[in-house]
Amino acid sequence: MGSFDPIAEYKARTKKSAAWHAEASQHLPGGVTGNVKFYAPYPVYAKRAKGGHLWDLDGNDYVDYMLCFGPMILGHGHPKVLEAIRKQIDRDGTVIFGPPHELEVRMAERLKRIFPFADLVRFTNSGLEATLHALRIARGVKHRVKIAKFEGAYHGSYDEVLVSLTPAVPDAGPADAPKPMSGSLSTTPTELQNTIVLPLNDLDACVRILKAHKDEIAVLILEPIQRGFLVADADFLRGLREATKALDILLIFDEIMSGFRMEKLGAVQTVVGVEPDLLTLGKIIGGGFPCGAFLGTRETMDAVNPVTRPANERVFHGGTFNGHPTVLAAGLATLDVLEEPGTYPYLNRVSDQLRDGLNGLFTDLRFDAQAIGPGSTFNIVFAKGPMRNYRDAARADKKLRQLFDFGMLARGIHFHPDKPWYTCTAHAAEDVDRTLAAAEDVLNQMR
Ligand SMILES: Cc1ncc(COP(=O)(O)O)c(C=O)c1O
Repeated sequence: MGSFDPIAEYKARTKKSAAWHAEASQHLPGGVTGNVKFYAPYPVYAKRAKGGHLWDLDGNDYVDYMLCFGPMILGHGHPKVLEAIRKQIDRDGTVIFGPPHELEVRMAERLKRIFPFADLVRFTNSGLEATLHALRIARGVKHRVKIAKFEGAYHGSYDEVLVSLTPAVPDAGPADAPKPMSGSLSTTPTELQNTIVLPLNDLDACVRILKAHKDEIAVLILEPIQRGFLVADADFLRGLREATKALDILLIFDEIMSGFRMEKLGAVQTVVGVEPDLLTLGKIIGGGFPCGAFLGTRETMDAVNPVTRPANERVFHGGTFNGHPTVLAAGLATLDVLEEPGTYPYLNRVSDQLRDGLNGLFTDLRFDAQAIGPGSTFNIVFAKGPMRNYRDAARADKKLRQLFDFGMLARGIHFHPDKPWYTCTAHAAEDVDRTLAAAEDVLNQMR
């Protein structure tokens, strides 16, 4: 591996991105509009995308496994999605009305059909808002202040759920009693105090911690597949469902990332058969536009109902752009394609070929590494052994992952370094072959 310098290779291929990063940094902190979009030394700046490919400012063609951090499950610019967008604008004469309109009901009906536990739905403009409002509803319904979340779980960029997102393990207390750690300079002591942190896949510890705080906790929020690859066991989910019911704590499944990315239409709850009180969705349901939704049982969702409740007994929920017609048109068109009989079998095949191919290379070339995760999302972890929670994943070799990531970027494979990969229905067998050939080359250079 002596002379292998993939960051130098990356820099040599992306000179226009480097120059644009310098320019963008004059106007945007770090040259980006959200920290997730940055990686050192600078990110690939996009020029164009189509299907499963993306082109950068230097004209490099990449197979795209970032897919905008997940939403583009049909690939970029799917003809049926573009047609639905154009039709909505032509038919309605505007992109948004303000008053309520038909597509909100159409999307709500569709989501309720896919997630039958839900009686009522509200739309938002991001995943962040969906989890924020779901937590607010829970507090309103239960009249309690604290929330419980898992160490390493992400639910959006606001302080109370950023608690213990990426804590330094040596500072974060015992594995079975994680200490709430600030995730942002803006976190207040109150937010730290009001966020209880749990260890994934350790039911005994979770039940013990929840019991100890049961009179203060309104709700438990979790990603049933944490960060796209840490799978909460079915028994663990069932155990949490039972425990939260017994303790009178609401349960939110945040399936903004896992939604529509399992092996079949639906989300983790569809596969496992465990139903939450509230569900948050985002990403895919907007067909590539900003979006989110929270849905739930009548008992929970009625908390925002302006018909059944006077203002002083209601959880406030507003939003100028909620239920945006163009977003819903794009989202419904996306769900139409996902519901076609061949879609998931194809997506599963491509995803398995890629994941299995990478795992085959790791084995053949003797790397302690794994491509893990269900359905059409997975992560690459340079560590052996079961990955059951944040602390297991924190053992991974970051340096090897960095070499692999930049080697792949420099060979025309696009994703965000150190983040999960997403596949789409536009990825073809040739894309998988090209990716595996690049991976073989990179791994050989790393040896
Ligand atoms: C599980 C989960 N929840 C919430 C969010 C926040 O969604 P958004 O970025 O749309 O605000 C994300 C985003 O990646 C997510 O993966």
